[in-house]
Amino acid sequence: MEPIKICDNVFWVGAVDYDIRDFHGYLTPRGSTYNAYLVVDEKITLIDTVRHGFEDELLSRISKVVDPQKVDQVISNHAEMDHSGALPGIMRAIGAQKPVYCSAMGVKNLHGQFHGENLNLIDVAKEHPSSGKLSFQFLDTKMIHWPDSMFSFVPELGVLFSQDGFGLHYASTDRFDDQVNPALLRSLAVNYFANILTPYTAQIGKILETVKSSGLLDKIKIICPDHGVVWRKDPASIVSLYARLVGQKPSRKAVVTFDTMWHSTEYMARELTDALGARGIETVYLSLKNSHRSQVATESYEAAAVLIGSPTINNQMFPSVADLLCYLKSLKMKNKIGAAFGSHGWSGEGAKLVQAELTAMGWKMPSSEVRVQWVPKEKDLDPLKELARTVADEIDKLELSKPDWSRRLRPYFLASEHQPLLSDRHPTARQGGFFPVAPRCRPSEH
Ligand code: FEO
Repeated sequence: MEPIKICDNVFWVGAVDYDIRDFHGYLTPRGSTYNAYLVVDEKITLIDTVRHGFEDELLSRISKVVDPQKVDQVISNHAEMDHSGALPGIMRAIGAQKPVYCSAMGVKNLHGQFHGENLNLIDVAKEHPSSGKLSFQFLDTKMIHWPDSMFSFVPELGVLFSQDGFGLHYASTDRFDDQVNPALLRSLAVNYFANILTPYTAQIGKILETVKSSGLLDKIKIICPDHGVVWRKDPASIVSLYARLVGQKPSRKAVVTFDTMWHSTEYMARELTDALGARGIETVYLSLKNSHRSQVATESYEAAAVLIGSPTINNQMFPSVADLLCYLKSLKMKNKIGAAFGSHGWSGEGAKLVQAELTAMGWKMPSSEVRVQWVPKEKDLDPLKELARTVADEIDKLELSKPDWSRRLRPYFLASEHQPLLSDRHPTARQGGFFPVAPRCRPSEH
């Protein structure tokens, strides 16, 4: 395993996880990386580690730069297990009592996670790590992504180590932004932001403001996150993307998502999709039979409206819809128009419960839920068309722009399952996009 030189004094020594698909409930169809960095100065500093199980990969890369026992200290920018799981093993390899610098919350979190280990954890506010000719500055970045999170900055190099911030999940041999198609990077970054950072947009907005007002932004030449590519060609691009994403501003887009028992709710979803599309709204159709909850979250992030359909089963909404609502609720998405619909046999609670959940989430609900008993007949479509009209009218009032073309490259396809229409590689990409194919409607089964 070879290290990658980032710039003078800094090496990437992390690990590539090509196989991970479930990242604590979030789909990572392109795998991920756990980035760790070695800063080589008079002292040698390891910045973050990797997930448990990747210790050998990390040590192998470190050992191509320096004997691991010569590492003097570790900076833990973020305590979550994907960056600290290997810490106990790495400390045993480099010297168990060497200092591990982190935030005050990092001390607590790492103690909580590794209480059986005798780690020498030091709060950077109480004791500052030295390096030699280089120096470290720390910025409290609470809730990007956990309360312990902090950025480390080496001013002499202009290198920012941003842990989860500015990351994306992408397993590849490419380490730098200039090696990957920018549209794909943007798509992966939005996917990451929507599923990891949405609940914290207010805090992230304030941190970005601090980064700008303190003058730090002007000094950054390279951003080294703990996942995905190092931003060396255009670090400003990911910062400006974040500045836009924290606003949770919608575009002229709707998501129609649902589950179905015997295709009736599916039929309703298709009617709604057609009606919204006919109004010039980019409408994404996502059946929960083949779409992961995190895919729905990503598509919903920049959508103005999210319409959710559920049949009724045993007086409840469908379990997959409940799963989706629980997930969306936890993300605390703002600025959404919601709508609920569904088919039922006799009691019909499903769509009502969805309506109640979306209302409780604070989404704007311009219409009551639309329910159809049994299989939809032609006349049952009128309330659905009215629902689509109402939602479209609400979207029109917002005078939103359409999602730009690059937003339509979706990160969900797996190379083994689909032929990507747009190359991952920069700059030889053909123009095109991937569009989920809606399942065929089977009228005979309604
Ligand atoms: Fe990549 Fe919050 O851990």
